[in-house]
Amino acid sequence: MTDTTIAIIGGTGLTSLKGLEITRREVMHTPYGEPSGPITHGVLAGREVMFLARHGYGHTIPPHRINYRANLWALKNAGIHRVVAVAAVGGITAEMAPPRLVFPDQIIDYTWSRGHTLFEADLSHVTHVDFTHPYCEELRHALIQEARQIGLDFVDRGTYGATQGPRLETAAEVNRLERDGCDIVGMTGMPEAALARELELCYATCAVVANWAAGRGEGQGEISMEEVDRNVAEGMVNVRTLLENIIPT
Ligand code: HPA
Repeated sequence: MTDTTIAIIGGTGLTSLKGLEITRREVMHTPYGEPSGPITHGVLAGREVMFLARHGYGHTIPPHRINYRANLWALKNAGIHRVVAVAAVGGITAEMAPPRLVFPDQIIDYTWSRGHTLFEADLSHVTHVDFTHPYCEELRHALIQEARQIGLDFVDRGTYGATQGPRLETAAEVNRLERDGCDIVGMTGMPEAALARELELCYATCAVVANWAAGRGEGQGEISMEEVDRNVAEGMVNVRTLLENIIPT
């Protein structure tokens, strides 16, 4: 592994990376329990990467049951410095149309009861990490630059509202999220981003808009899982292209 090796955390629609030549799978045990699965080591477009399926390789772990601490700790201890997190989201504001890619620059956390910090036991002092800019701007800009270069349909900013799930939101909850300033809504953005910061990992999110959030979009009807699946599949084609190009040498 080189210093520039990137880890990819795959979400809904990205439980494996087509084109990844797998070299080995590493089972990790952490002080926080088991990660979602073994870390997959491999080569993508000629570059070394690591891959971890956030919901497990069979997509069986719901957002509120993911062991985010174990996942991030495992990646850090596998020697990673940079993490690209791929996640499906709902679009709230007008720009956030499915199946666009979004590189959010802010987060609001609405989750609860998740293991959300590594700084709670055996402390020599209380630690408060800075989280003013929750994503690694260097990696975010690298993703944006590459997306622009290959002509993808994307939005280069946005506030990610992280909800508890696993149910989707009510229309009123989405109205509240929008009043709060959220542009997209997803269930896995937190505590993942905060834990990455605690571990001093450079972490950025590539979100795929899977659907209009509840009460948004034409017709403002119920969210159809067929629509979600279709948009995720379409969006992930672009994510794969992006990842094959972004991985730095
Ligand atoms: N809400 C929350 N999480 C999501 C959504 C949504 O509408 N779509 C995909 N993940």
